[in-house]
Amino acid sequence: MLRAVILAAGKGSRMKTPLPKVLHKIGGRTLLNHVITAAQNVDPAIDISVVLSPQMPEVAVAYQDQDHSIQVFFQQEQLGTAHALLAAEHAFQDFSGDVLVMLGDVPFIQPATLKKMLNRLDQNPQAALVVLAMHQTAPNPYGRLVTDNQAKIKKIVEVKDASDDEKKITLCNSGFFAVKGKHLLDLLKKVQPSPVTGEYYLTDIVAIADSQGLQVFYEETNATEVQGINTQHDLAVAEACFQTHARTKAMENGVTLIDPSSVYFSFDTQIASHVTIYPQVYFGPQVTIESGAEILSFSHLEGAHIKSRAKIGPFARIRPSTIIEADARIGNFVEIKNTTVGSQSKVNHLAYVGDSQIGSQCNIGAGTITVNYDGVNKWKTTIKDKVFIGSNSSLIAPLTIEKGAIIAAGSTITHDVAENALVFGRARQMVKNGGADRIRSQLQDKKSKRSIC
Ligand code: UD1
Ligand code: CA
Repeated sequence: MLRAVILAAGKGSRMKTPLPKVLHKIGGRTLLNHVITAAQNVDPAIDISVVLSPQMPEVAVAYQDQDHSIQVFFQQEQLGTAHALLAAEHAFQDFSGDVLVMLGDVPFIQPATLKKMLNRLDQNPQAALVVLAMHQTAPNPYGRLVTDNQAKIKKIVEVKDASDDEKKITLCNSGFFAVKGKHLLDLLKKVQPSPVTGEYYLTDIVAIADSQGLQVFYEETNATEVQGINTQHDLAVAEACFQTHARTKAMENGVTLIDPSSVYFSFDTQIASHVTIYPQVYFGPQVTIESGAEILSFSHLEGAHIKSRAKIGPFARIRPSTIIEADARIGNFVEIKNTTVGSQSKVNHLAYVGDSQIGSQCNIGAGTITVNYDGVNKWKTTIKDKVFIGSNSSLIAPLTIEKGAIIAAGSTITHDVAENALVFGRARQMVKNGGADRIRSQLQDKKSKRSIC
């Protein structure tokens, strides 16, 4: 039986933005969602509670709507981490299992590390809590662990309250605690506000436990895993770490990155081996790329499934709910949204294709626009196999173009097109031989009369 409480109500004033800190993103996923995912991966049956501030009602609604397994508690005033945990007391009062206390601003925490803490807690009958620690050289903003010589902790001193000698301690608090549920509420209720800052520090439960004869152990991990995000600089450093890791992982899996440092990954980007990514490519959330595909420079993809051997870019924008089938080709200055492009079809230059279903072996000419929006509704365009759309055509949806049809260049198509039809939807060309000279002299006349007056 396991419960986790994630503290995420802090104002994050050091971020200097109106956005709550835990909603900032790394690899396209909020800090809070990184932490929630880690908790879920410790044990699928885990009960997760999140402590939010009342200034974050939309976040609470989002969790309550999307993920019913997460319970939300509100901390009315941000009076410190112990106070925040107490706001979730219903999650662990009368609970005799283990409780993981987690921080919403420490996104790289690994489930395996949390499991190690829990094992340590369970293997020591006298242990009341296990703190996750790391070594960090000073100066740093982390709480310092004061230990005895038997790997037990006597107290944690917050850096704001630490003496010069305590500041020199390199063993620091990651902020993650594994606590025996039967002790937690009692320990928390004894926390007094700091005489220095007036905050209720969760870290004080260590000294309280020690004074009651309860034992506090620590488990150690590397500093990168538990870097906390407090400032924009911390966020940028963590993002860089995330990207380096994602690029390395992709290359280990057989993805060719011509210039790794210029490719941006999201937390869930999936790229098969034998895919080549050119410099300057951005993968937003939910992108999957199959083997043999190539993504050329300056392309921006999100919510897209790119199938085998398809070629994208350069300068392509692929928006959510798009499937590019095998061997299809999306070229420069093309935007595709909520569309399936069939196998071996080509949309090679300067086109907008939205809310469409394109069959296989189609050719969508340069400058083609699916006119999918009337200002109120979005409409669908269906283009069956082997259709040829001439350049600079507007396809006014809702519209179906049947198999093998040809649309002449420059057409505006407003009605469905039958199989194999050849359709012209443009004004006929009018020719006046010698008319160019005539019009030029008329215009010249007008100009000279104007300059006289
Ligand atoms: C905290 C720890 C510090 C540790 C560091 C690790 C305390 C007192 N200090 O410091 O020992 O080294 O994390 O990163 O615990 N929060 C609330 N309500 C509050 C205050 C904070 O929910 O009233 C939440 C924040 O949203 C954040 C987390 O708790 O997710 C940590 O708060 P923060 O103010 O960032 O603590 P640190 O100063 O980093
Ligand atoms: Ca922090």
